[in-house]
Amino acid sequence: MRRSLVVGNWKMNGSFELIDQWVSNYTGFMETTTETVVCPPFVYIPFFKNRLLTSAISMGVGAQNCSQYESGAYTGEVSASMLADVGSSYVIIGHSERRQLFGETNEVVAEKAKRVIDAGVRPILCVGETLEQRQNGQTVEVVLSQLNAVLDVVGTAGLCTGALAYEPVWAIGTGKTATPEEAQQVHKILRDSVKSRNPADASLLRILYGGSVKPSNAEKLFSCPDIDGGLIGGASLKAEDFYAIVQAASAVEDIN
Ligand code: 13P
Repeated sequence: MRRSLVVGNWKMNGSFELIDQWVSNYTGFMETTTETVVCPPFVYIPFFKNRLLTSAISMGVGAQNCSQYESGAYTGEVSASMLADVGSSYVIIGHSERRQLFGETNEVVAEKAKRVIDAGVRPILCVGETLEQRQNGQTVEVVLSQLNAVLDVVGTAGLCTGALAYEPVWAIGTGKTATPEEAQQVHKILRDSVKSRNPADASLLRILYGGSVKPSNAEKLFSCPDIDGGLIGGASLKAEDFYAIVQAASAVEDIN
């Protein structure tokens, strides 16, 4: 059985004040069986971690990106080993906003995956098609090329140290969620593709769904056989909503 994983991606949102308030609001919620991680902007990782520690909340802290380089003259970049140093347990790589707004190619994403794994941190690899690609019937081709570019470099065992996230671009921040059937269909294709390389790793790999997950739709999505949790944007900024989503993952896990 795969333990469910729910990850909050705060994107470029947050402040000391918001973190303080968020952690205060989260304090007192009952611990669940679901593994839980929040990825704030880089600069807040140590503060977030300390606030969780002093509040005795068992939750990981991760990052939203890292450099494809190890160290050196790369102004403004942050390496995977620096993220390990400040206690990040996961790093999101290949988010569609990085691919679309910052020109990250499959090759760059694969280099980042390797850096993350080499630094002993867990990658969360994002894949997903745009609306145009979906309408042109290219969903499978797009997500498999994004997945395979990384598997060719780090292998199934490397990816299994972390997780894979299917985030259809048309569902991100739009309020338009993929139906559980639409999401499950792609998740199964992704798992089958990993299975063709290594069946044991495929059954271990956690595949998260992301894109307008809310407390109201989480449980139905997480009930699908190949959906093992979520990557949550907007709803993770509110402690109560994030916790409700974590609870939905635990409820499903308890049934399975
Ligand atoms: P939303 O949950 O805001 O749609 O964002 C999803 C996402 O991009 C998480 O990485």
